[in-house]
Amino acid sequence: MSMMEKLGTRKTEIDRELEVALAVGDNETLRAAMKHYPLAGGKRMRPLLSYLVADAISGNGRITVPFGAGLELLHNFTLVHDDIMDKSDMRRGIVSVHKKFDTPTAIIAGDALFALGFEEICKLEVDDVLLRIILNDTAVAVREVAEGQQMDMEFEKRNDVQVREYLSMIDKKTARLYFTAARVGAIIAKGTIDQIKAMGDCGYLMGVGFQIWDDVLDLEGVEEKTGKPVGGDIREGKRTLIAVHAMTNLKGEDRKSFLSVLGNQRASRKTMQEATDLLHKSGSVSYAKNFALEYIREAKEKTSVLKGSEAKDLILELIDFAIRREG
Ligand code: IPE
Ligand code: IPE
Ligand code: MG
Ligand code: MG
Ligand code: MG
Repeated sequence: MSMMEKLGTRKTEIDRELEVALAVGDNETLRAAMKHYPLAGGKRMRPLLSYLVADAISGNGRITVPFGAGLELLHNFTLVHDDIMDKSDMRRGIVSVHKKFDTPTAIIAGDALFALGFEEICKLEVDDVLLRIILNDTAVAVREVAEGQQMDMEFEKRNDVQVREYLSMIDKKTARLYFTAARVGAIIAKGTIDQIKAMGDCGYLMGVGFQIWDDVLDLEGVEEKTGKPVGGDIREGKRTLIAVHAMTNLKGEDRKSFLSVLGNQRASRKTMQEATDLLHKSGSVSYAKNFALEYIREAKEKTSVLKGSEAKDLILELIDFAIRREG
């Protein structure tokens, strides 16, 4: 069995848990809106990370499934609301929740997924003290995602966002869930303090690399693979690492021309292509790629606290996948 197939068998366990969890509620429309993203695919990166970390420490990854599935539901809640705020009409290759249903339904479906995520985590078979710690860590992480999302929106109005500000924003909006996925996996498996700490760091570093790669894919990916419209970040005026680098490194006419496209919802294909060319010319795309690569390298180093096992190899595979993926 290849590494990808081995990840696939774990993914199936998580998918099954999600299907059962989502068969709730009396309102047909709300239930359909809640299921729309979770059952339409998704890489399941966060639950896989929890599963594999626990597996590498204790040999029992399966015990994390309710936690991982809960985290995945919480992630899906953030996606439903993210697509409203980012005006994205497509995700996972299908029309977004607020377009298929309507914005009020999408807001409510997000709220319900938020609650369902915590209901699912409560199914974890660990002692009460541990459960309380895990619920608290997760609640803090989700609140921090909200903070990161608010920063993301506020940055759209600024032309002077610094790299460290961008990093603090993606730490919150994206890396916190990865941090929590890996850290809680280690906690459930009763890892040592060193292992719990290192796995949290590993998740954080992986999450940063993952988000930077997401920014790269928004520019260079193909819709059939990402399941999301290409160039959405430029049209929406997102201050991605690529845009932040370009805004400090492009000069004169080039800078002016890039800024005129950034945030222009009606930009033509031709102007979008010109903006993309500028981002290559300024070295911003390769800057971001190298940045992501460095974080992924450091994330892999953190796994040195784990003894050799198939699960550890799969963690390394998953970390690499964060920047090798095309979708
Ligand atoms: C999308 O996350 C949101 C980001 C944090 C970039 P994923 O790329 O993990 O989305 P799915 O779950 O695989 O669809
Ligand atoms: C994802 O950021 C962050 C969260 C969903 C919390 P993006 O806005 O880049 O995610 P995509 O590209 O829409 O998946
Ligand atoms: Mg967003
Ligand atoms: Mg988005
Ligand atoms: Mg994105």
